[in-house]
Amino acid sequence: MLGLVQLKIFFGFFSIICLLLSFQVLAADAAAGKMRYSKTCVNCHGPAGKGAASYPKISGKEVPYIIEKLETYRSGTKIGPNSGLMIMMAKPLTDEEIANLAAYLKDAKYNVNN
Ligand code: HEC
Repeated sequence: MLGLVQLKIFFGFFSIICLLLSFQVLAADAAAGKMRYSKTCVNCHGPAGKGAASYPKISGKEVPYIIEKLETYRSGTKIGPNSGLMIMMAKPLTDEEIANLAAYLKDAKYNVNN
């Protein structure tokens, strides 16, 4: 049986872990993601990830979705018929860049002024 002390210790650790996890999410820097996006991604996915011709729209998607896609491409795994292009683009990305890009793309909205 768990005593009160063990329970307190357990919840103590639990809250520390939650805190650390939330910091990781907060640490993603959307402004840095926007800068990184403008270097290469914009050439295919268009301003603010709105998509262009055969290049998919990538804005307005949840953070884990974008992270998962970029990690998959980075590992060299094909997803769709044109993955070759994306694998090349994702290879050099760091975990931090991926997190920042995902943070930026989640709320990126296209309007004529950006
Ligand atoms: C040379 C053109 C090109 C560039 C540059 C490019 N992409 Fe892509 N991207 C594509 C194509 C084409 C696909 C669809 C690939 C497939 O068929 O799997 C894609 C797919 C994606 C997807 C998955 C979309 C989905 O819903 O499945 C994400 C996320 C993505 N790109 C993000 C990025 C980011 C971030 C960058 C910049 C680091 C970037 N792309 C640069 C062409 C490009």
